[in-house]
Amino acid sequence: MKGRDWDLFLNKVHSTIALDAHLLAQFAELKIGSTGFLALARQCQQATKMDIAHWKIFRRLDRLWKLLCYMRYAQARTSEGRFCECGVYKGYSALAMSQVMMVDEKDLPFRELWLLDSFEGLSEPSEQDRVQDSMPQTAVVKGYFAAPLEDVRQRLSGFSNVRIQKGWIPEVFTALPDGKWAFVHIDVDLYAPILASLEYFYPRLVSGAVVINDDFGSSLYPGAGKAWMEFFQKVGKGYAILDSGQAVYIHD
Ligand SMILES: C[S@@+](CC[C@H](N)C(=O)[O-])C[C@H]1O[C@@H](n2cnc3c(N)ncnc32)[C@H](O)[C@@H]1O
Repeated sequence: MKGRDWDLFLNKVHSTIALDAHLLAQFAELKIGSTGFLALARQCQQATKMDIAHWKIFRRLDRLWKLLCYMRYAQARTSEGRFCECGVYKGYSALAMSQVMMVDEKDLPFRELWLLDSFEGLSEPSEQDRVQDSMPQTAVVKGYFAAPLEDVRQRLSGFSNVRIQKGWIPEVFTALPDGKWAFVHIDVDLYAPILASLEYFYPRLVSGAVVINDDFGSSLYPGAGKAWMEFFQKVGKGYAILDSGQAVYIHD
């Protein structure tokens, strides 16, 4: 069993479990500085009113944890370079990143965190994003994941290092300041904007920088893996594919 059938099966099985007990067992011991990871994740979920389906609850938290760990790695290993997230939606991961960037901030260089999104949802999917007929097509259409910019602005208003830029990738890149980047989280789901993000940021990375993509092997968004394979084959560099489903590149 795989793909959508597997997701539906997980949804059915997980709908009967004591979810909180499993979440505590898996995540209660994880901390970033003195910040408890599970409490942080719950707070971000509540603040953004994100409904996370049963079939992906563990994976979502695994991904958030890995995202934050790699961000901390880049924060500690680089002394310059801005941070960026491409694909913000309601600000779930952006809120977690913003909070974690404040941990030990006195000992770390100040970093801007740029948040880029159309705030009008996905761009037009291409041929590379075509999914199997058995998959739900509703999540792979232009406009899916639209979220009001003002809500996100409000949610992140307490963070002085956050810069929010509305616009379509790749055109929105012209609004970014010149300079280097130390951490890039790409979560735009589709082949064309993922490839464009890699092409924009790669030549601007500092040594030790991290680029992490939310999806790699997703059957709902097959364009993500295609964009990574194509780009890194072209530049001749390797990247890790995590069990969580993310792909990660560390710049040398
Ligand atoms: C999966 S959501 C991001 C989820 C978010 N990182 C979170 O943790 O909740 C994908 C986002 O990518 C944005 N997006 C997709 N294609 C885009 C493009 N070409 N330009 C700008 N934003 C885009 C959508 O508007 C949407 O908010």
